[in-house]
Amino acid sequence: MKRFLLFTLMCLIMSTVSGAKDVKVISPDGELSVTVGVDGGHAWYQVIRGSEAVIKRSELGFILKDGNMNGNFKMGKVTRSALDETWSQPWGEDAKVRNHYNEMKVRLQEKNGQHRVLDVVFRAFDDGVAFRYEFPVQQGLKDFVIMEEVTQFALPTDAPTWSIPALTDYYEGIYTREPVSQKGNMSSPVALEVNDSLYMAIMEANLTDYSTMNLSHNGTTLAVDLVPWQNGDKVRVGETRVSPWRVMIIGHKPADILLSRMPLNLNEPCRIEDTSWLQPTKYVGIWWALQNQRWTWSQGERHGATTENTKRYIDFAARHGMGGVLVEGWNYGWDGDWTREGNKFSFTKAYPDYDLKALCRYARERGVRIIAHNETGGAAQNYENQMEEAYTLYESLGINTIKTGYVNPHFYNGELQHSQWGVRHFRKVIETAARHHMMIVNHEGAMPSGIQRTWPNLIGTESMRGQEYNAFDRKGGNPPYHECILPFTRGLGGPMDFTPGIFEYNNEAVPGTRPQTTLAHQLAEYIVIYSPGHMAADQIENYEHQPAFKFIEEVPTNWERTLVPHAEMGKYVTFARQERGTDNWYIGSVTDSEARDLSLKLDFLGDGKYTAMIYEDGPDADYRTNPYPMTIRRLDVDRGTVLHFHLAPGGGVAVGIIRK
Ligand code: NOJ
Ligand code: CA
Repeated sequence: MKRFLLFTLMCLIMSTVSGAKDVKVISPDGELSVTVGVDGGHAWYQVIRGSEAVIKRSELGFILKDGNMNGNFKMGKVTRSALDETWSQPWGEDAKVRNHYNEMKVRLQEKNGQHRVLDVVFRAFDDGVAFRYEFPVQQGLKDFVIMEEVTQFALPTDAPTWSIPALTDYYEGIYTREPVSQKGNMSSPVALEVNDSLYMAIMEANLTDYSTMNLSHNGTTLAVDLVPWQNGDKVRVGETRVSPWRVMIIGHKPADILLSRMPLNLNEPCRIEDTSWLQPTKYVGIWWALQNQRWTWSQGERHGATTENTKRYIDFAARHGMGGVLVEGWNYGWDGDWTREGNKFSFTKAYPDYDLKALCRYARERGVRIIAHNETGGAAQNYENQMEEAYTLYESLGINTIKTGYVNPHFYNGELQHSQWGVRHFRKVIETAARHHMMIVNHEGAMPSGIQRTWPNLIGTESMRGQEYNAFDRKGGNPPYHECILPFTRGLGGPMDFTPGIFEYNNEAVPGTRPQTTLAHQLAEYIVIYSPGHMAADQIENYEHQPAFKFIEEVPTNWERTLVPHAEMGKYVTFARQERGTDNWYIGSVTDSEARDLSLKLDFLGDGKYTAMIYEDGPDADYRTNPYPMTIRRLDVDRGTVLHFHLAPGGGVAVGIIRK
C-alpha cells in the first residue's frame, strides 16, 4: 500500500513537472492530436501531426460585454466520447458519409469573480480537427453579448494562403495566394499550402444563430474576426448555446482537402423527414440575356420574362431533359433602382406580360417546373412579410425551387448580410421553405457551412464569384485559375450555384469581357464545381446544333462516390464521380492559364466494358485567342485503360463513361 501511494505521488509530481495537466485527444488513426491546457489563466490548444506542429499554441475564449471569459481560467472536468457511424444523404458528392472521430469536452472554469464556466468540445478526425464552444446556462451567463471571440489559429509557418477579402463585394472576390502575413482581413474558408505534405483549410461548420467567421491575423497567427451588428455587438447569445465549429481540415495532399466530409459531419442530421420531394435538377433560364443586357428585368420593349420567351425556354427544357426553367424579372418591383427600392418587390404579383399560372401549367404538362426568382434587393423584412403567402402560392402552382437574391451588402435595417441578423434571416427562409416543400438556391447570402446536411432543401448558394462576372465584370471576367481554387475554398461549405456552360462569348455590353476559359473547360465545370442542380446558363439559342451540348444534357448531378485523381491548389484539378445508383462515371478536369498533360488510370471502374465520350480541347485551343475548338471522341475502355489528356491554356476536359 505504501509503495502504491509513493508511486502515485511520484506520478503526480512528474505530471506537474512535465505539464501533464494538459489534456489530449487523438484521431482514430493516431496521427493527429489536439492538446489543450491553461497557462496563467489563458486557455490554449495546439494540433500536432506525428511530430510536426500543425497549429501552434493558440488562444481560446471570449471578450464579453459583461467582462472577459479569458485570462482567468482553470481547467475543470474533462469528458470523452467517440463515434464511428455512416449516414446517407439524399443528394451529394457521396451517397454515404463516414463520421469517425474521438471527442474531448474540456470545462474551463473562472478562478475568480463570477466563477462562470465555458465548455470547449474538441473532435479529432483522421482528416482534421474541430472545436466549438458551449455556453452552459448559469448565473451570470444567461442572455449575453459576445464582443470578440479570441480564438486563434497559430500557423507553423508563413504559409501561402488562398483567400478573398472579408466584407467586400458580397464575398464575390477573386481568390489570391500570398503568404498569410501579407494578407488583409479574410473571409473563410481559407486554403493553406504549408509545405509539400501539409495542406489545410480553415473554415466554420454549422453557422447557426451566430455571426460569420472572418479571419484577421497578427503575423502568422490567424484570429477569428466576427461580423458585427451595427452597434458593434458580435453575437447576442440567447437560446442557441453553442458556437459554430472551428474547423481545420488537414491533409498530406491537396486532394485530401477536397475529399474531407468534416464540414457535413459537423452539422446536425437531416431535419426533413420525408426527403422524397427533394429533386434538384438541371435548369435553363431567362438569365444570361439579362446579364449581357440584351434583355431587361424591368418592363419595356426588351423585357425578358414574357410569356412567349418563357414558353420557348420550357419547350427547350422539355426537349433536352432539363427539369427547370428559371425566370428572372417576372414580378413587380424591377422598374426603379431595385437595389435601393427593394421594398417595392412583390413576390406574388406578376407583370402583365407574364402569365404565371398558365406558364406553370404549360411547364407541368411538359414535365418541367418553373423556378421562381425572389430578388429582395436587400429588403429582407419585405421578403419575410410575404414569404408565407408567396410560398403557398408557388406550392399550389407546382413550383418547388426558389432562387433568392440580396443585391445589397446591407439589409434595410442597416445590418450586414453576414451578421448574426443575416444568418438568422437566411435560416428563417430555408426553414419556411422546407415547410412548403421548396428548395432554395441562395444568391449572395450566408457563407455556406455544411448546413445542407440538416436542411437539404438548401440545394445551392452563391457566396462566390460566379459565371455572371464573365458578362459584366469591367476587368474582362474571372481568371482562368478561378475554378481551380473554388473547390478548395468556398466549395468546402456546400454546393455552388456557379451557372456553368457558356458557349457564346460575344459580349456587346462589355466588349472583351467573357469566360476566360476554353469551351471544354466550361463543360468540365459541371463535374469540378459541385452542385446537385446545375444551370445550363447560356441563352438556349446558343446550344442549338452544338454537339458539345450533349454532355450537358447527359451529365448527372447526383453522385454515389467522388474521387480526386489530380489536384494542385489554383493550378489544376480533376474530379471523377460515379453517378448515383449506376456504374457510370463522369470526369472533369480544369487547368489555369497553363497547358497540361494529364494521365488517368480508370482503375476505379467496375469490371466489364464501358464506352467513354471524351470532350477535350481541340488543336490550337487557347482561352486567350481560340477558346472554341473541341474534339469529341468515343473510346471503348475498361478498368485497365489509361486516358491521356492534353489541356490547353485555360482549358479542360469532360468525360462520360457509360457501362455497356
Ligand atoms: C445577382 C445574382 O447573382 C444573379 O444571378 C441575378 O441575376 C441578379 N442578382 C438579379 O437578381
Ligand atoms: Ca451574385
